[in-house]
Amino acid sequence: MNKDAGIFVAGARGLVGSALGRTLAARGFTRILSPSRSALDLRDRSAVDRFFATERPDYVFMAAAKVGGIIANDSYPADFIRDNLEIQTNVIDAAYRAGTRKLCFLGSSCIYPRLAAQPLQESSLLTGPLEPTNQWYAVAKIAGIKMCQAYALQHGFNAISVMPTNLYGPGDNFDLQTSHVLPALLRKFHTAKESGASDVVVWGSGTPRREFLYVDDLADALCFLMEHYDSPEIINVGWGHDVTIAELASLIAEVVGFRGAIAYDRSKPDGTPRKLLDVGKISALGWRARTPLVDGVRATYEWYLASMKQGRTA
Ligand SMILES: NC(=O)c1ccc[n+]([C@@H]2O[C@H](COP(=O)([O-])OP(=O)(O)OC[C@H]3O[C@@H](n4cnc5c(N)ncnc54)[C@H](OP(=O)(O)O)[C@@H]3O)[C@@H](O)[C@H]2O)c1
Repeated sequence: MNKDAGIFVAGARGLVGSALGRTLAARGFTRILSPSRSALDLRDRSAVDRFFATERPDYVFMAAAKVGGIIANDSYPADFIRDNLEIQTNVIDAAYRAGTRKLCFLGSSCIYPRLAAQPLQESSLLTGPLEPTNQWYAVAKIAGIKMCQAYALQHGFNAISVMPTNLYGPGDNFDLQTSHVLPALLRKFHTAKESGASDVVVWGSGTPRREFLYVDDLADALCFLMEHYDSPEIINVGWGHDVTIAELASLIAEVVGFRGAIAYDRSKPDGTPRKLLDVGKISALGWRARTPLVDGVRATYEWYLASMKQGRTA
């Protein structure tokens, strides 16, 4: 990518989009296009077409999506499938028609079958039933992957599809109703420390294993793949290791400075015992994650404290 190439970061205010903005700016890219949702609603096909016709971006990172946890997916299945299908269809089609050189579509590990072998390999796609709770989101994402593949086949459009593992980092969602496990635990331990509580109760047994990738490492991987990967076959991006929820909770307690006890509420569901991506494919290309979990958690906690001071986080 030339430093003056037009780069459209769709979803630039989100967790992934803001990390991409930081990374691209730090690398000296000068034409980063990042309209807010109020300036450009990606569900609006005419508006998307107008944007592409005017700006003609050379590269597109598709970090815009309607994203949410189990409760949101369960409560609003129609919104999840419609918004995501609309956003990705409008952007992929407009990018192709406007002559964009390359597009990077983002999926997620939830596209893999519920019972696929761990670590999850790219070849597991469409080999079994999905996890029912977020199937609406997953089906939309699979349609996005297939759309990229179809445009590559029929039109020779260079569209790649990247599957990141669970992400965390500055800009994360700390709302306890909708957040993922890592920011939720950071907030819980922080609140417990501030209030002088003697213990923190973590949902489940603490034994499930999960993988967490620092979002700036993902942004680095996306730039790497934009420059070095030209296949319509999907590719995983992960940290390459997993930890138990109990190990994560101890690490977070340490970072936050909480000295009390950690209890586990085994009446709450554990979810799947393990979720880890196989990162053999991207490793063979020469990329690997660089941020150790403790460093990433520390940076995320610092961002959380700073954003609370500025009144950005509840
Ligand atoms: N977070 C993870 O752990 C994770 C893991 C694997 C894959 N991913 C993938 O990474 C991508 C980005 O996720 P994220 O975590 O960065 O999500 P996020 O923080 O919720 O960001 C999503 C962005 O999309 C924008 N957006 C949503 N609907 C839009 C619309 N109609 N028009 C314009 N913009 C719209 C949002 O705008 P507003 O700011 O206005 O809401 C937001 O900036 C998604 O495809 C997701 O599947 C994320």
